[in-house]
Amino acid sequence: MSPRVAVLISGSGSNLQALMDAADNYEIAVVISDRHKAFGLTRAREAGIPTEVLLKRDHPTREAYDQAMVATLQGYQVDWVALAGFMRLVTTVLLDAYPSRILNIHPALLPAFPGLHGQKQAHDYGVKISGATVHLVDSGTDTGPIIAQAAVPAFSNDSADDLAARILKMEHRLYPMVLRWAAADRLRVEGRRVSVVGDPPTFLLSEAG
Ligand code: GRF
Repeated sequence: MSPRVAVLISGSGSNLQALMDAADNYEIAVVISDRHKAFGLTRAREAGIPTEVLLKRDHPTREAYDQAMVATLQGYQVDWVALAGFMRLVTTVLLDAYPSRILNIHPALLPAFPGLHGQKQAHDYGVKISGATVHLVDSGTDTGPIIAQAAVPAFSNDSADDLAARILKMEHRLYPMVLRWAAADRLRVEGRRVSVVGDPPTFLLSEAG
């Protein structure tokens, strides 16, 4: 049986869409949002995937929120958790329930530009290359061990939105690639260093430029 994945979202869910479109050796068992209005919920429903909404206001602390999250994930017998634009920091309650089994995608080449709006941070800084990173989640903000990265050029006449769009396109290639490895049990974690069994390239380079 294919590993069961929960995708956690807060917004548009374009990465969710990419993960749904590429699902072959994994099954998206549930999509969970912290916002009723997240468009990703509509995408999931249209694909016949169960959805759940867990609102911050219904849980007094971050830990209580994560306890509800763990209960939901266990109810769907989830093996992997993929954060895809999920705008909450997770606590040890969730991390301890799924050790080295929670992935996140960040729209910058970590460790540069963690936190909110990584694309705009990179644009405003004036970098000439940026990209996306898929990493294991730890208790910090985008600090977990890196699994794979994708690089794209940042041109001088780019707006922040131009760069963000170029990065997002690569995110949609990168995240399914990594989730397939995870589902095939090909990730090996030694401290901060993650390797992939079979040693495939763990980076993508943009064709543009
Ligand atoms: C992506 O840029 C992702 O890297 C970041 O949040 C954004 C989510 O976009 N964590 P979407 O909801 O997948 O369209």
